Amino acid sequence: MTSSRTPLLADSRRRSLDSDHAAEEEDAALHGRAASPGRSPRLREWILFLWALLATATVIILAVIVQHNQQTSHSSPKPSSDKRNLIFMVSDGMGPASLSLTRSFRQYIDDLPIDDTLVLDQHFWGTSRTRSSSSLVTDSAAGATAFSCGKKSYNGAIAVDPDHNPCGTVLEAAKRAGYTTGLVVTTDVTDATPASFAAHVWYRFQNDEIALQEIGEGVLGRTVDLIFGGGRCRFLPNGVEGSCRADDVDVRGIAQDKHGWSWADSRAGFDAMAGGKNVSLPALGLFAPADVPFEVDRRNMADVYPSLSEMASTAIKALEEATKDSEKGFFLMIEGSRIDHAGHFNDPAAQVREVLEYDKTFKLVVDFLEESETEGVLVATSDHETGGLATAYQRPGELPAYYWHPSVLANSNASSEHAARLLSQYVASVPDDVNKSDLKKWINTNILQQRMGIDDAQDTELDAIVSNPALALPVFSKMISSRARIGWSTAGHSAVDVNIYSSGGPAVDHLRGNVENTDIGKFLRSYLDVEDHVADITKELGKKMEIKPPVMGVRIQEVAVGLGEALHLDLSYEP
Ligand SMILES: *[C@@H]1O[C@H](CO)[C@@H](O)[C@H](O)[C@H]1NC(C)=O
Ligand SMILES: *[C@@H]1O[C@H](CO)[C@@H](O)[C@H](O)[C@H]1NC(C)=O
Ligand SMILES: *[C@@H]1O[C@H](CO)[C@@H](O)[C@H](O)[C@H]1NC(C)=O
Ligand SMILES: [Zn+2]
Repeated sequence: MTSSRTPLLADSRRRSLDSDHAAEEEDAALHGRAASPGRSPRLREWILFLWALLATATVIILAVIVQHNQQTSHSSPKPSSDKRNLIFMVSDGMGPASLSLTRSFRQYIDDLPIDDTLVLDQHFWGTSRTRSSSSLVTDSAAGATAFSCGKKSYNGAIAVDPDHNPCGTVLEAAKRAGYTTGLVVTTDVTDATPASFAAHVWYRFQNDEIALQEIGEGVLGRTVDLIFGGGRCRFLPNGVEGSCRADDVDVRGIAQDKHGWSWADSRAGFDAMAGGKNVSLPALGLFAPADVPFEVDRRNMADVYPSLSEMASTAIKALEEATKDSEKGFFLMIEGSRIDHAGHFNDPAAQVREVLEYDKTFKLVVDFLEESETEGVLVATSDHETGGLATAYQRPGELPAYYWHPSVLANSNASSEHAARLLSQYVASVPDDVNKSDLKKWINTNILQQRMGIDDAQDTELDAIVSNPALALPVFSKMISSRARIGWSTAGHSAVDVNIYSSGGPAVDHLRGNVENTDIGKFLRSYLDVEDHVADITKELGKKMEIKPPVMGVRIQEVAVGLGEALHLDLSYEP
């Protein structure tokens, strides 16, 4: 063990109040402690519902303001016709505070000096303004459409403009120009960010339709060569086990038989790809029924799910192989999708592990570009911030505290989502009239103490969970956050500017400073020199494609109201 505790942390400890002694002791105890040998988890193929409700709730789109801001366009330098690769990374929902949170967390767990930074920090490039055409606070659909089409649109829009006209995307244009294309995510591959590159629909929740367009059933035919992520349930017909489609369309069958996709749906299938050396394009790898679990949970289920960095590295290798004799390189979008979900859940323990995994993935992309003989660029940014995260929290009725406790996050070995899932499994296994005080005891021992590292649960907190186990997730998040002294202002998104990172070079000069998110979209098409193709495709889509409004369900709104109530739970934590 190296000797130095970081002065910053040591100092914060000296100043910490009595109420935080528990966390302080944990900090000391945890430092340098080796991980205990593990039990093997048996959690497979779990259909999550709580997060889904939350994620869906964020999707409610109310008004569509047709207010198209014509962006001033830079005169971009014309790239030469030389072969080039472009990797675009999206850290969904990662604002500047997430970097500070994760940097300090990593310094703490790895006993690093206070000037140790994330790989991302070393590639800081600029900042991006994120508003959509309909709101100062964007959602991921409008955010991704700004990247894929270079246009502002309304919240919920998947590669359509404010008038619902489809707009050609950089990925579609790249494909037409001869590039090989890929999408790698940790959420459903039909979710807003990947969808906005390869599908055009009125609203993001039209996942069934998005799945079809992504495999090649849209008017442009197939435009993607590789898709890795979760969301398998959208590709299986209703009635088949593991399907979440509303119809009985066999998307997998159409993908394989009509469009020639290879199919992988398991860790074994992923491993057979041999790190990218044995991938048959077009390749569809759907490794989870819905989301790939949060990294904090996935690392304990690595025999079931590949990580973001594993998927990204395999994808890069496969695309590199596929283009080695081609005049054009590849365009790959990689999304750290669930940083956003951790924000929606206000779960800092889940978020730090998501950001660390994203940072690791960023590094492997930078390393690839450095070693590659083909010219290439990495640009990475977020579509928006999620949660209104603050690396400080003043508990109600207390003085402000000048510290926060990474140890609390380090001690937790389960996301709130996973903890809530364990609880709902348990509740389903016991009689309805289970003795409440026994249930509280079970939660305290098996979840809070054993999995989340919380050994001072308050009775009010346990009561809140037992009286409505459906609200367990936000209560677990609140318990972690208040002990770590991490603040949140919303279960939705915020309007704060987000960071841009890049492998750098003169080509990316236009993204220096503070830019609009649409400037990033314009950069992508300009770097690949496919602006003319984008224009042609937009025209073609306008002619051939009819976009109809979907039928909106009321249920979504009910769910949103329920969640709002959960968030305003008054749980004072008094240690
Ligand atoms: C975290 O939980 C998993 C699953 O139960 C277990 O295998 C692992 O050992 C735990 N790790 C720590 C550090 O507690
Ligand atoms: C390559 O992938 C195919 C499936 O696509 C699999 O059958 C084969 O075993 C793999 N080869 C190796 C060497 O892993
Ligand atoms: C629940 O169990 C506790 C002991 O664990 C007992 O004291 C209490 O009386 C029980 N309550 C009911 C309603 O059975
Ligand atoms: Zn979100």
